[in-house]
Amino acid sequence: MGCNRSTVCAVCCCLLTIMISIGGIVCLVAFLLVVPLHKMKFHVIDASLTEFYLTNDDILHYNLAVNISVRNNNKMERISYSDISSNIMCYGQSLTSISLSSFRLGTKNTTSLHLVFQGQSTSFNLQGSDLRDFSNDQRDGSYMIYVDLFLTTQLKYAGGGDSTKNDIVVECELSRLPLLGSSSLFSNQSGIGDLFHSKRCEVYIENNEG
Ligand SMILES: *[C@@H]1O[C@H](CO)[C@@H](O)[C@H](O)[C@H]1NC(C)=O
Ligand SMILES: *[C@@H]1O[C@H](CO)[C@@H](O)[C@H](O)[C@H]1NC(C)=O
Ligand SMILES: *[C@@H]1O[C@H](CO)[C@@H](O)[C@H](O)[C@H]1NC(C)=O
Repeated sequence: MGCNRSTVCAVCCCLLTIMISIGGIVCLVAFLLVVPLHKMKFHVIDASLTEFYLTNDDILHYNLAVNISVRNNNKMERISYSDISSNIMCYGQSLTSISLSSFRLGTKNTTSLHLVFQGQSTSFNLQGSDLRDFSNDQRDGSYMIYVDLFLTTQLKYAGGGDSTKNDIVVECELSRLPLLGSSSLFSNQSGIGDLFHSKRCEVYIENNEG
């Protein structure tokens, strides 16, 4: 026969408890998952561009080697990295994609990835501002290249459990990367190597795969 005052109150209390519990769980998940994921650091430690030229038929010839350090700065969680691929983007175009083997990182440990992109990109047909940027950079003998990494990460807790899997995207910007052996008047190769020393990459945590 309808609700009296105390049933309404009980329902209220019950709902409130559920909401507080959900809030607590969300906070806990955030603490267990999101905080450790933010303690992954990626840096470009070295890069060398030995070939980067465009032929009349819109084919870009490239040869780029990049070393990226990956650090797990967590004290408790190990991290496994799988489904790893990397591609280069420049002047509004995606050049190529390579895949890398899976690896794991212990707590407070660092490893380095050695990436080599070499080949020819057909239909590298630059327009507008991209073409202008490319021409300017060609004159200067140094280029603006982005190296992106796509990884699936999983935290391994000290107690033995695993977290859910998360996809992350790492964007490393190689600005003013000099072309080695370039005959350009503007290029000054004496500083090469130091230019990219410990350049931090941006890490974007994409989605939770459950
Ligand atoms: C990257 O590391 C490898 C070995 O770990 C080294 O041979 C290479 O010179 C480094 N630099 C570049 C740009 O590849
Ligand atoms: C870091 O990783 C390397 C290679 O996987 C391993 O030899 C080394 O013991 C690890 N260091 C720590 C502190 O875990
Ligand atoms: C090249 O760089 C070095 C130092 O890295 C500097 O001393 C030299 O003047 C530069 N040369 C030119 C032509 O800019």
